[in-house]
Amino acid sequence: MNNNILIIGASGQIGTELALYLRKRYPEAQIVASDIKEGIPELVENTTFELLDATDTDQVLNILKKYNINTVYIMAAMLSAVAEKVPMKAWDLNMTILLNILNIAKTHSDLKLFWPSSIAVFGKTTPKNAKQYTITEPNTVYGISKLSGERWCEYFKNNYNVDIRTIRYPGIISWKVAAGGGTTDYAVDIFYKALEQNNYECFLRKDSKLPMMYMDDALKATTDIMAHKEFKNYIPYNVAAMSFTPEDLAHAIRKERPDFSISYAPDSRQQIADTWPASFDDDYARQDWNWNHQFDIDSMTKEMLFHLNKKMTI
Ligand SMILES: NC(=O)c1ccc[n+]([C@@H]2O[C@H](COP(=O)([O-])OP(=O)(O)OC[C@H]3O[C@@H](n4cnc5c(N)ncnc54)[C@H](O)[C@@H]3O)[C@@H](O)[C@H]2O)c1
Repeated sequence: MNNNILIIGASGQIGTELALYLRKRYPEAQIVASDIKEGIPELVENTTFELLDATDTDQVLNILKKYNINTVYIMAAMLSAVAEKVPMKAWDLNMTILLNILNIAKTHSDLKLFWPSSIAVFGKTTPKNAKQYTITEPNTVYGISKLSGERWCEYFKNNYNVDIRTIRYPGIISWKVAAGGGTTDYAVDIFYKALEQNNYECFLRKDSKLPMMYMDDALKATTDIMAHKEFKNYIPYNVAAMSFTPEDLAHAIRKERPDFSISYAPDSRQQIADTWPASFDDDYARQDWNWNHQFDIDSMTKEMLFHLNKKMTI
């Protein structure tokens, strides 16, 4: 069977690394990376890159046809902190992109889809350790769009047999491409500042504990769930790796850079963080498709400092 893969939103934090990871994991596959904006040179050189506005159904259909695509990763979205500034635009963008592709897949039964959800589906009423099935009353427009997206994915799976798979990412930490305006971005920014100036002013409180994951684990989770045989039911799987506070992260950085200091000036992103759980339970993913993480806070910190140091001295 051919393996022609399209990534939508491929110039973003996760999409870029996903496209490059798929290139390595499936050397024979055709990897088409697409976004409304140009990607980094490494992405454009190692994939077939197409400029694409995923809100435009005709543009999406043309690309699917042109490359005979059978797998789509839908990574384009507006993230939590940016979305709160333009709630209606965020809702429109996040839902239009997903529903466009779900409706296309209704009549293209050979398409396999991945669409990521987030810890943002939880809210203030969710217990601080969120189970797979628990209260989901999100308080942000981003969370509302992710929860609605999950419901639509299940609807299309049940009513039109669309093969769509979802994981709920925690905050993703990586060094290759800048983070896209989420509430957990401090856990990326802190490493740049640690290397540049040995101190960081954090926009969350020191005790704000949130679930996080290193990019390598996120890529493994994303491609493993897609490599699994078709699931009977749609489950937007929780996938967890580690949970920490800004203070814990500063402590981990200090093990590598003893002079590093941190101060705290919480801004509007604190209100978003306060609605999210401190940790979440991923038993279903571990049982159903053998999800397992590799990186903890210390191994992730070492990797981040090593790769960013190299990147910043080039
Ligand atoms: N990064 C995280 O920590 C995190 C956590 C939970 C969930 N997620 C989800 O993972 C997915 C990818 O996140 P990310 O961090 O890479 O986001 P990002 O903001 O870095 O990238 C999103 C990309 O989508 C592109 N895009 C926006 N509108 C588009 C359009 N109309 N057509 C085509 N492309 C468009 C943007 O140009 C951008 O490159 C999103 O669905 C996000 O909600 C991310």
